[in-house]
Amino acid sequence: MSTVVVDNVSKVYPGGVLAVDGMNLRANDGELLVLLGPSGCGKSTLLRMIAGLEEITSGDLWLGGQIANDLPPRDRDVAMVFQNGALYPHRTVRGNLAFPLEIAKADPGMVRDRVTELSRALHIVETLDRKPGTLSGGQRQRVAMGRAIVRQPSLFLMDEPLSNLDAGMRTELRMEISALVRALGVTTIYVTHDQVEALTLADRIAIMNRGVLQDVGTPGQIYNDPATAFVAAFLSSQQLNLVACTVRTPQNQFIMLDFGPHQLTIPWSDPRAYAISQFTGSQIIIGIRPDALSPVPESYDGPSFTGRVRTLEYHGHEWLAYLEAGLPSVAVPEPPDPHGRAAQLANGNGSQGRFKSMVRRLISGPPENDIPGHANGSSGGSGSHRRADLIVRLGARPAWRAGDTGKIAVDISRIMAFKLDGSRVDPPQR
Ligand SMILES: Nc1ncnc2c1ncn2[C@@H]1O[C@H](COP(=O)(O)OP(=O)(O)OP(=O)(O)O)[C@@H](O)[C@H]1O
Ligand SMILES: [Mg+2]
Repeated sequence: MSTVVVDNVSKVYPGGVLAVDGMNLRANDGELLVLLGPSGCGKSTLLRMIAGLEEITSGDLWLGGQIANDLPPRDRDVAMVFQNGALYPHRTVRGNLAFPLEIAKADPGMVRDRVTELSRALHIVETLDRKPGTLSGGQRQRVAMGRAIVRQPSLFLMDEPLSNLDAGMRTELRMEISALVRALGVTTIYVTHDQVEALTLADRIAIMNRGVLQDVGTPGQIYNDPATAFVAAFLSSQQLNLVACTVRTPQNQFIMLDFGPHQLTIPWSDPRAYAISQFTGSQIIIGIRPDALSPVPESYDGPSFTGRVRTLEYHGHEWLAYLEAGLPSVAVPEPPDPHGRAAQLANGNGSQGRFKSMVRRLISGPPENDIPGHANGSSGGSGSHRRADLIVRLGARPAWRAGDTGKIAVDISRIMAFKLDGSRVDPPQR
């Protein structure tokens, strides 16, 4: 029985770096939970706090129903695998795999059997008598994985174990990890910044940005029904189109999303209509994945945008078009920079009033009309893109050429509506 509960956990490193900010998370018994997020968002820090390698600044960690904040790492029954699985260079693969059992004084016959069984499962039988220095990167990671698994801990923690491998090896090993941890039924928390790895491996995904949990759910839930614009953008294989609009409800007949040069209407029968109508007169952000847009003939009279094809881009299996439609593109809204916040507090700007307003901002996002990173103006949050174009998928044979005027149909059922702070207008039910 091994559940992990992270209850309002924060981590401030010496020097005031806020790496994890009020994290709440639960990994269920036997679950493969993937922690996903961009570089520097605090994934390793959270994993290391669970392993006991890093002190928890505030909040509680529960392992198997016991509070574990001050439990020494060796008493946590946790095995961890890192990006560069360190092996004992002077021991053979067999010696490396056997070591955790030998120090636990396991019966030699049992050790032999376990090592044999595991080396078969990990496809490293032929390497058993070799030293780590003679192995390929993929084989080394398999041995590191095996060494973590061999003593059957109640919790596996894996920190980007595949990120140093080539694409083919990653796919292969990913499937093997998935099969292995599921066969063993051991609760696993797996860190990656690769969305494909997360979507293919996870029972559930927890996605972080700047130390803040953005969303948690099954791969299908967070892909199709993301809680924030950040999640939608991070999981899009092509760049997510994010466009600001004003909500209008003319004579209460329908909902109009007013983008300036273009409008889209949403009927009252749409399940999101009521939530969006609450923003009448205010601005919201609409997220449109490129695959919700399709080129249509000029005569099409459904929901659509028209624009000039600025460039076409060849992607092998398909072409992408960048369409200038005069839409007010915005950058992905981000939580406030935690380094900036920590520094602000340290510099004495954290007086009661300012602090409260900052906390309010953190919870509710920037005030109305403060559109983050407007594409034809301010630069937006760090790491965000300036995007003035709509990205449209054209398939293998493009209907357009650069300079053409093109019309694109918008699949209204697939657009996503976000508040200016990036949270959903119609929050998903989890
Ligand atoms: N020992 C430390 N002292 C001070 N700051 C640290 C320390 N370790 C990490 N940080 C900072 O904490 C933040 C989170 O780091 P962390 O390593 O947890 O990110 P990550 O999500 O694992 O990133 P990556 O995908 O690049 O591994 C970063 O800004 C990092 O610079
Ligand atoms: Mg890391």
